[in-house]
Amino acid sequence: MTKQEKLEKVHEKWLKKCKCQLKEEATQGVPGHGNPDSEIIFIGEAPGKEEDLQGKPFVGAAGKFLNEMLEDIKMKREDIYITNVVKYRPPNNRDPLPEEKESCVEWLEEEIKIINPKLIVFLGRHSLQNFFPNEKISEVHGKILKKKTKIGDTFLALYHPAAALYNGSMREVLIEDFKKLPRVLEKINSTK
Ligand code: URA
Repeated sequence: MTKQEKLEKVHEKWLKKCKCQLKEEATQGVPGHGNPDSEIIFIGEAPGKEEDLQGKPFVGAAGKFLNEMLEDIKMKREDIYITNVVKYRPPNNRDPLPEEKESCVEWLEEEIKIINPKLIVFLGRHSLQNFFPNEKISEVHGKILKKKTKIGDTFLALYHPAAALYNGSMREVLIEDFKKLPRVLEKINSTK
């Protein structure tokens, strides 16, 4: 089975099996999307309005901003795989609750296992703290985190593009942190 076929099976399974309460109000589930052979996986928080309608992650304003930052480093959306901790839209985009994250986490872990990325990029606090509950995004953004975990060993946390979109100083920081990605990947590839 190809990675793409494995991913499709995982999504099909969890779209039925996931017990997340957000299912009741969401239009549909939003599985991860992108290149199964990507060296990087980006993990966001939860789908917003546009993602809920289209069934794809990061297709709204935050996604457009992300695409611009990818272009700046000569990468395309088609090069990467992107997903969310929570696969259903929380009403009015409120923060996902711990039990909502918990009910979607195995789905995320299975996606990551198939992609087997060299680098896991957390987009925002929720994504970071899902795996590193004691780290603060304001302290670790833009820095490589190395730790052997069941999902991988090399991580980079970035501010969430939606949070940075309308916050001038956070936006500058995110753009600068994002530019570190090619160098980080080069370094990983030279040492692995
Ligand atoms: N914000 C997220 O965290 N995920 C999306 O898919 C869209 C916006």
